[in-house]
Amino acid sequence: MTTASVRDLIDGNTIPEVGFGTYPLRGEEGVTAIRAALDVGYRLFDSAIRYENEDTVGLALRESGVDRSEWQVASKVPGRFQGYDETLGAVHQSLEALGLDQIDFYLIHWPLPKVDKYVDTYRALVTAREEGLIRSVGVSNFTIEHLSRVFDEVGEWPVVNQVELHPRFPQAELRAFHDEHGIVTESWAPLGRAREILDVDVIGDIAAAHGVTAAQVVLAWHRQIGAVALPKSGNPERIQQNFDSIDVELEEAELAMITALGHEDGRLWGADPDTHEEF
Ligand code: A2P
Repeated sequence: MTTASVRDLIDGNTIPEVGFGTYPLRGEEGVTAIRAALDVGYRLFDSAIRYENEDTVGLALRESGVDRSEWQVASKVPGRFQGYDETLGAVHQSLEALGLDQIDFYLIHWPLPKVDKYVDTYRALVTAREEGLIRSVGVSNFTIEHLSRVFDEVGEWPVVNQVELHPRFPQAELRAFHDEHGIVTESWAPLGRAREILDVDVIGDIAAAHGVTAAQVVLAWHRQIGAVALPKSGNPERIQQNFDSIDVELEEAELAMITALGHEDGRLWGADPDTHEEF
C-alpha cells in the first residue's frame, strides 16, 4: 500500500499531502468509511466538535490496528467555546471524545471577528500545545487580516489555515499569503461538494486526456497548487479513487485552465469569514 507524501510544517511537524474529510460521517457507517480510508492509505483525518463525530473518528482509528504514530487527527473548536478557558475545556472534551491523549491538529473553526475572541482562543491552543495536549495549532476560515492579527498579538503563524477551496473559489491571494509565511493551505469542500464542478467540460476534457475521473483531476489540482485537500466520501470506490489522485500529474496549462474557472462569488454558500456566525 502507498501512503501520501508528507509536507513539512513551520512548527517542525508534518502533514500528509491529502487527508480525509469526515463530515458528516457518524456511527457504524462512519467507522466503516474511516477504516476504508485507512486501508487505502489516508493518514490524516479531519474532524471537529461541530461535526459531532469525534467519538466515531476516534473509535475507528484507535481500533484499526494501525499504529498511533502512523495517523493524524484534527479537530476544531467551535464558536461557543471561543475564549481562553472555554477553549482549553474544548480541547479536553475533544480528547475524551476521541479517546486519545494527544490531538495532532487543533484548529479554530471560524474567526468570528464580531465576537472578537479568536486571539485569546489561539493563546489557549498555544497553552494546550505546551502542555502536550495537541501537537500543532491551526486555524480555519481565517482571512489575511485575521492571520496577521494573530501574528501581531501572539507572535506566530498557525501551521495550517483550512478554507473553502475548489475550482470555483481558488483563493489565489490567500494562498500566496500562506506561501509567503509557510502556512499550509487545507481545502474544505475540495470537490465543491460534488455539485456542478465535476460536470464542467474543461475538467471533463482534462480527465479524459489523462484517463482519470473529474474528481481525480480536481484533487490533483489541489495538490499541485500546494493545498492539502480533505475530500469526504462514504463510498469505498470513491474513497480509493480520491486517494489515487496522488498519482495524477497535470500540466501547468491544465492547472491554469482549472484555476480560471473560479470567480469572486464562487463560494458554495456565500459564507464570508468576516460575517459568518457559527456557534
Ligand atoms: P459520497 O460520500 O457518496 O462519495 P467535498 O469533499 O467537496 O465536501 O464533497 C463531498 C461530496 O462529494 C459527497 O457528497 C461525496 O459523496 C461526493 N464525492 C466524493 N468523492 C467523489 C468522487 N470521486 N466522485 C463523485 N462524487 C464524490
